[in-house]
Amino acid sequence: MKVLLSSDQIQARILEMGKEIAADFQGREPHLVGVLKGACPFMTDLAQAIELPLTLDYIAVSSYGKATKSSGEVKLVKDLDQGLDGRDLIVVEDIVDTGLTLNYLINLLKARGPRSLKVAALLSKPARRLVSVHVDYVGFTIEDEFVVGYGLDYNERHRNLKDIVVYGG
Ligand code: IMP
Ligand code: MG
Repeated sequence: MKVLLSSDQIQARILEMGKEIAADFQGREPHLVGVLKGACPFMTDLAQAIELPLTLDYIAVSSYGKATKSSGEVKLVKDLDQGLDGRDLIVVEDIVDTGLTLNYLINLLKARGPRSLKVAALLSKPARRLVSVHVDYVGFTIEDEFVVGYGLDYNERHRNLKDIVVYGG
């Protein structure tokens, strides 16, 4: 499979993102919410790159299946452990594709009263967007190709690859 982003490239970019986030949140304590399972490696590395006190939580969602996919309806599989009232929230996603998942999550989490809400995504595929969602911190903008590795899967496989590769490429 063709390497699109090497582990070194990914790690270097995450260090930059961490510095940018730390500068933006100076004097505050951001609360990172990672979207399971794909965002796990990114969440871990990004959190370590942000040199500020911070807290972590996780949420899991799954789409209701192909028929309703375009409606953007997603099922909450695992809710957060902690409330969001007054927190400076950063939603951490692996990839923003159509934007439907993130759009749903943003609406769900906004309703819980965070002081601020920002989004960090390792990858963005703007060509596939169906709803416009604002992503504050983007690691890499990529073409419309299906990628796996570094948390991203195809049928639950390949999440453990260090690099991000084009599936079947
Ligand atoms: P969206 O709702 O279409 O933006 O979908 C986002 C979710 O689809 C991501 O969190 C991934 O789980 C999955 N996804 C989208 N594109 C890819 C890809 O290229 N590789 C692996 N998973 C992907
Ligand atoms: Mg995902």
